[in-house]
Amino acid sequence: MNHDNDGRSGKGQVKLRAFEIKDIPALHRWLNDPVSIEMVGRTPLTYEQTVQHVDKKRQNGDLVLAVDNEAGELIGWIFLQHIEYEHGRAGIGILLSPEARGLGYGFSAMRQMIGIGFGQLRLNKIYLTTRGINDQAVALYKKVGFTVEGQLRKHGFSGGRYYDTYFMGLLASEWNVD
Ligand SMILES: CC(C)(COP(=O)(O)OP(=O)(O)OC[C@H]1O[C@@H](n2cnc3c(N)ncnc32)[C@H](O)[C@@H]1OP(=O)(O)O)[C@@H](O)C(=O)NCCC(=O)NCCS
Repeated sequence: MNHDNDGRSGKGQVKLRAFEIKDIPALHRWLNDPVSIEMVGRTPLTYEQTVQHVDKKRQNGDLVLAVDNEAGELIGWIFLQHIEYEHGRAGIGILLSPEARGLGYGFSAMRQMIGIGFGQLRLNKIYLTTRGINDQAVALYKKVGFTVEGQLRKHGFSGGRYYDTYFMGLLASEWNVD
């Protein structure tokens, strides 16, 4: 696969930059979107909880980046977390604003962040967990190249029902293969 052109799908192109304190109000809004609560969180978050969430990620040494669209407008955040250099692995997470979903921005953002993970941080593996009910996210991750490595049965609870959790992984060797 050739990953030089991260806009392979011909859809939304993003630019990643450092996530700043001024970006937190937007993050607070996205996290409280009903879809986010169902797919990422559990309950609504206060602004202070959102600030603490960002602080905690920084203290943990996560790489947290803002996602800007072609017009330079903030449309999401993306991060590498649980970075463990001794194992050469990290987890990845992404959240886009409700208005920016379904336009291909997630594909562009994931590809750029994975490029940083493998190309600059010299990771060997990037992984994630996602709710089995999140069809859009699962489709995106498969399109990017992730493989479902495990399915945890009835691992979470949302909207009055239990759902499976998928563990998905991508190896550097799979990313670099032409
Ligand atoms: C999940 C998320 C990152 C996906 O990014 P996105 O830019 O919106 O993704 P897109 O919809 O453009 O692309 C994903 C792919 O899934 C497909 N897709 C979209 N909705 C789908 C659905 N309900 N079922 C199956 N496939 C779907 C799209 O067709 C697209 O494939 P294509 O480009 O070949 O057509 C984004 O929607 C988001 O931030 N959602 C809320 C937070 C969240 O769920 N984060 C992930 C937690 S694990």
